[in-house]
Amino acid sequence: MKYILFLSVLFILFLNKTDAQVIKSVDAFFSPSKLTEVGVYYYPEQWNRNQWDRDLKHIADMGYDFTHFAEFAWTMMEPTEGEFDFKWLDEALEIAAKNNLKVVMCTPSATPPAWMCTKYPEILVKNFTLTTMQMGSRQQGSWSSLKYRNFVSKIVVEMAKRYGDDKRVCGWQIDNEPSHYWVDDFSDGAQNRFIEWLKVKYLTIGELNKTWGNQFWSQNYQTFDQVKIPNSYQLIAQSNPHAVLDFKRFQAQECASFISMQAEILRKFITTKQYVTTNYIHFCDQTQPDLNKDLDFVSYTIYPVGGLDEGYGEQGFRTGNSCRIGFANDYFRNITGNTGVFEIQPGQVNWGPKYNPLLYPGAVRMWIWHIIAGGNKFVCSYRFRQPLYGVEQYHHGIMLPDGITPSQGGKEYLQVMEELKKVRKLSDEKAATPDKLIKRNTAVLFNMDNHWETNNQRQTAQWSYEKHFYKYYDVFKKMGLPVSFIQEDANFSHYPFLIAPAYQLLDSALVKRWEKYVTEGGNLILTCRTGQKDRNAHLWEGKYSAPITDLIGANVKNYDALPDHYKALVSFKNKNYEWNNWGDILEAHKNTEVLAAYANQFYKDQAAIVSKKIGKGSITYIGVDTDEGILELDVLREIYLKAGISTESYPEGLIVEWRNGLWYAVNYSTNEVELKLPLNSTIIIGNKLLKQTDVLIWKE
Ligand code: GAL
Repeated sequence: MKYILFLSVLFILFLNKTDAQVIKSVDAFFSPSKLTEVGVYYYPEQWNRNQWDRDLKHIADMGYDFTHFAEFAWTMMEPTEGEFDFKWLDEALEIAAKNNLKVVMCTPSATPPAWMCTKYPEILVKNFTLTTMQMGSRQQGSWSSLKYRNFVSKIVVEMAKRYGDDKRVCGWQIDNEPSHYWVDDFSDGAQNRFIEWLKVKYLTIGELNKTWGNQFWSQNYQTFDQVKIPNSYQLIAQSNPHAVLDFKRFQAQECASFISMQAEILRKFITTKQYVTTNYIHFCDQTQPDLNKDLDFVSYTIYPVGGLDEGYGEQGFRTGNSCRIGFANDYFRNITGNTGVFEIQPGQVNWGPKYNPLLYPGAVRMWIWHIIAGGNKFVCSYRFRQPLYGVEQYHHGIMLPDGITPSQGGKEYLQVMEELKKVRKLSDEKAATPDKLIKRNTAVLFNMDNHWETNNQRQTAQWSYEKHFYKYYDVFKKMGLPVSFIQEDANFSHYPFLIAPAYQLLDSALVKRWEKYVTEGGNLILTCRTGQKDRNAHLWEGKYSAPITDLIGANVKNYDALPDHYKALVSFKNKNYEWNNWGDILEAHKNTEVLAAYANQFYKDQAAIVSKKIGKGSITYIGVDTDEGILELDVLREIYLKAGISTESYPEGLIVEWRNGLWYAVNYSTNEVELKLPLNSTIIIGNKLLKQTDVLIWKE
C-alpha cells in the first residue's frame, strides 16, 4: 500500500513538473551561455571521402557548434538485410570531433532501402488511389506496418548501441519531418490497425454506428471488419465526417507512436546526456506534434519562402510570412517547454509548387534572429553544400556548388556568428521578464481536432483553419503580445488573456473551465464556429453552440458564408469593415454588450461581436471572420484597452520579441519602419530605421 502511495506521489510530482524544471533538464543538452546553438546538415555519404576533412573543418571554422549525420543513410548503414556497416559513419564522426563539432545522429526511418521495399512491399504506404508508393523518393514506409516497425527497431537498436554512449554525439533526431507529406495511408497495415483502434475506442459496433450516425444513408456496419478507411476517391458522394475525423486522429496517433517507439528504443541504450527529438512540420494533416510530449522536446522545420506566401509589401514574397516562424516558435516551444529548429532555409529552394524566388538579401540572417528571439535552443541550417546531383540540385546550400565559397546565405550565417558572440555576452537568462509583457501574456488554445473538422466541413472554400490562425497571429504581433499556443491540459490561469480561435469541438467540462477562468479574472476571446459541436462532431440537440451561449451572453442564431467576390459589411464603433469568409449571426442576451453588428444583408443590425463581464474577467465572442484582419485587430485592441493593458501598434511584418534581457526586432516587410526606443536604450545590433530584412537588437 505504502509502495503504491509512493508511486502515486512520484507520478503526481512528474505530472506537476514546473516550467523551471523542464527548462533545467534541457540545460544539460544546451549550454545556456550559448543562447542558441548553431548547426548545419552534412551528408558525408554524398561527397567524396577526400573532401570530408576539408568540409567539416570549414563548418567548424565558420563557427557552427554542431553538424547532423545519417538522416537518410539507411542503405549505407544496412546495405543488405541484417548486415550493418558503420565504418564510414565512425570516420565522419571522428573528423567532426577532431574539429570540435558535436554531432546529431538521425534515425533513417524516412528512407527504407531498396532491398526492403522490393522484398517486403507490405511495408509501403498506399495513397488514396490505392497505388503503392514505391522506392525512388522518400517517406514511403508505413507507420502502420508492423514489419516496417520491426525493421526500424533493428536499425535503431544498432545505431543506439554503437553511438548511445558516445560523447561526440549530442542528441538524436528521429525520422525526418514525419508526415508522409500530406499523403493519407490506405495500406493494409493502416486499414487493419484502424479497425483495431476503432475496436478499442468503441468496444461495440453499435457504439461506432451511433457515434458516426450510420443510420443515415444506410451506413450501419454489422462488424468492425466491414469498416473501411474513408476514401473520397472510392466514394460516390461525401464521406462520413465522423469517420474522417476518427481516421485523422488515428493516423496522427500512428505517427506519434512510431516516433515514440524509436524514442523508447534509443532510451534503452543512450546516456541521459543525449537528447531525443524529432522535427515536425506544423499544420500537416497527418500529424499532431503535441502528442509527442514523451520526447525531450519537439523540434521543427521551416521554409519561409517556397513561393507560397506573398509576404508583406511588393518584395514580401522574398522574405515570406512572419507567421510561419512565429507560429512554430510559439507552438513547438510550449509542447514541453523548449524547442529548436532542425531545418531553416539557407537560400532558394527547389520544391515551390509554382516558383522558387531568390531570397531578399538579409532574409536568412533575419530568420535566424527571429528564431533566436523566439527562444529556440538551437538552429540548424539545411544544408551545408549545394548538391551536384540528385533531387536537390537546385537547392541552395551554405556553400556554392564548388563546396568552398559561401553562398549569400553562407555569408549571412558568418555575419550572424560574429553578431552572436556579442549578443551571447549581453544576454542574461536570469533577467526578469518586463512587467508590460507579463501583463499582456496571451495563450492560444490549439487542438488539431478543430483543424481536421473545420477543414473537412468548410462550408465555404474560403475557410482555412491555418489562415484563421495566421490572421490572429498577425494581429497579436502587431499588438506586441507574447504568445503561447497551448493545449487543454495547460493551466489557463497562467495567462491574463486566452484566445480559442474556431474552437468547434468541445464539451461542457471545457466550458466550465473557461467560465472559472473568466470569473477569476481572465479575459477569454472566442472566435467564430466555436462550440458548434461536441467531441464526436455532432451538433447539439438544442440551440446552435448551446454549451457556450450562457457564457458568451448571446445565442448563435445562424451562420453565413458569401461568394468569393462578394463583400458584406460589419460595423464596429461607427466604422464599416468588409467581410466574406464567415459570419455568425448573434442575438445578445440582456447585459451583453454588442461590440459590432452587421451593416447590410437581410440580417442588418444583428450582432456579429459581443462582449460581457463575468466576475473579475471578460468574455468576447468574435463571430465574424474577415480577410484583412483589420476588424479583428481593432476589436482586440479594444479588449486589451478595456482590461487596462497597454499594447503596441507595430506595422505588419514587424516582429518584436524579448528574450533573456534583450529586445529583438526584425522586419519582413518591404516598408521601412522607424522604431521609437525608450531614451535609456542601448542598441547592440542594427539601427532604429529597419528596412526589409533588417534586425535591431537593443537593451532597455
Ligand atoms: C525539407 C526536408 C529536407 C530537404 C528540404 C529541402 O522539407 O526535410 O530533407 O528535402 O526540405 O528544402
